[in-house]
Amino acid sequence: MSQQNKVWITGASSGIGLALVKHYLQADWRVIASARSEGDLSELMATDSRLTFVPFDIVDKTKIVSVRDEIAKQVDCLDCAILNAGTCEYLDIEGEQTDWSMMERIMSVNFFGMVNSVEMCLPLLQKSSQPHLVGISSQAVQAAFPRAEAYGASKAAIRYFLSSLRMDLNPLGIDVTCILPGFVDTPLTRKNTFDMPFLMSADDAAQGMYRAIQKRPYEYAFPRPLSAMLWLGRHFPKWWLKKLAPNKTDNS
Ligand SMILES: NC(=O)c1ccc[n+]([C@@H]2O[C@H](COP(=O)([O-])OP(=O)(O)OC[C@H]3O[C@@H](n4cnc5c(N)ncnc54)[C@H](OP(=O)(O)O)[C@@H]3O)[C@@H](O)[C@H]2O)c1
Repeated sequence: MSQQNKVWITGASSGIGLALVKHYLQADWRVIASARSEGDLSELMATDSRLTFVPFDIVDKTKIVSVRDEIAKQVDCLDCAILNAGTCEYLDIEGEQTDWSMMERIMSVNFFGMVNSVEMCLPLLQKSSQPHLVGISSQAVQAAFPRAEAYGASKAAIRYFLSSLRMDLNPLGIDVTCILPGFVDTPLTRKNTFDMPFLMSADDAAQGMYRAIQKRPYEYAFPRPLSAMLWLGRHFPKWWLKKLAPNKTDNS
């Protein structure tokens, strides 16, 4: 098989994942793209033989081996895996009507889906001479936000999981990068009804991510103005919580 670099991108049928696929093809990578359905990838698939779609519902553990086998038929190894698939729902506290099952739903896709994806791709990364594992968390982990109990917790879990993996995969020669995007204009955020400061296009986000990934940082948070805005919440979490949710009873 050729010496062309090979990348696996999950959540590739839409939004950030789709934009990443386009950037990796532009840079002449061989791209294996996954999602549950081809979605907006179909057009690209018809015109670019360097792109292959391998369906994978990241929640479905029973498919891990067959998906790995399918990818191994296409490429001899993976030089990079970008675990980007994810979803978002916000919690509404509505007494007995509160949809607590959403916590499990979101953790199952965002967190356990990433764990399943790591299990799937690790043996293929180990066959590369320059392996790199990249996972997508969120700027939401920088500070607590209302209604983000499920999404924020899943993304914080991802960040910790990747930090720990970075240490344990280091002896195997696998670099690990955690990416914290701010607000990016995709089908996922188009449902939001609140203000999204520093909203950027998926293409701009993917371009910055592509550049950053080549340098293999431990973490890449963007855009910078949003990181600066969240600086207080990140460094002074008690102050942040007191400001946004002061005690209702003063016991001092
Ligand atoms: N947009 C933002 O502002 C923003 C900010 C911070 C972090 N992020 C993160 O960036 C990632 C991409 O988000 P996006 O905004 O590009 O969202 P998006 O346009 O909704 O794309 C989500 C992708 O994930 C795939 N996916 C969802 N559930 C899946 C499952 N069970 N198995 C396999 N694939 C699944 C979807 O494909 P199928 O439905 O076909 O499976 C789709 O390709 C997510 O992890 C998100 O949390 C986004």
